[in-house]
Amino acid sequence: MNSLYDIYNIKLVSNIVSEMLIYISKFIKPGISTGEIDYICHNRIINYYKAYPASLGYMNYPKSICTSVNDVVCHGIPRFNKYLRNGDIINIDISICKNNYYSDASKMYFVGNPSIKSINLCKITKNSIFKALKIVKPGNKISLLGFIIQNYVEKFGYSIVRDYCGHGIGKKLHQKPNILHYKNNYNFIFKEGMVFTIEPMVNIGNYRTKLMKDGWTVKTVDKSLSAQYEYTVLVTNKGYKILTKF
Ligand code: MF3
Ligand code: CO
Repeated sequence: MNSLYDIYNIKLVSNIVSEMLIYISKFIKPGISTGEIDYICHNRIINYYKAYPASLGYMNYPKSICTSVNDVVCHGIPRFNKYLRNGDIINIDISICKNNYYSDASKMYFVGNPSIKSINLCKITKNSIFKALKIVKPGNKISLLGFIIQNYVEKFGYSIVRDYCGHGIGKKLHQKPNILHYKNNYNFIFKEGMVFTIEPMVNIGNYRTKLMKDGWTVKTVDKSLSAQYEYTVLVTNKGYKILTKF
């Protein structure tokens, strides 16, 4: 389990991730390329925060952030020839390492004026996290998260992606336990001092995903829109604390 020293450092790197997610919002406009967004983040993480973009080189991932537009579920690779257009929705996912501690968060951004349909998808995806987090406290089952998230998003006719999950985080980017966002019987309980990510991917259509030929980009099979938010969360003695506030 994490010591107070560990938690101090995870909080420190989480503040950097939060500030990056806020900082980048002013650049999200029609006409910018996802490659430029990556370039801006890469430089700021390294030169300003003296930190390292944890995605870069992770299992040979080639860029410093993930940029997932419209029907891209997750792990979209930034490209200088991929321009954002009015009405797009984009997830920017930032993982950072500082002092050998990791934090990971993501949020949706609107490019110009997206449809009500797109805005609602993003809102419900974000709300599902806050509904689920209510049950986080030492002794409760982690699997409750998946029950709450799946039930909630399905009420709106959406589906929850099964192929990717949240994870423990701290001394590594991905560590135990897995945090599933769909109904499951995983036997693991929350313990004080545990740090994990919650990062549901929610589709307007079917939950099935397919991996593109670049080996990273994940899209919805039915080409429906997908949204994702991600937070790094600490389990406290009475409940939880979100470490990546954006
Ligand atoms: N940030 C992603 C996650 O939520 C993964 C980043 S590593 C990458 O776990 F290589 F996939 F970019
Ligand atoms: Co993550």
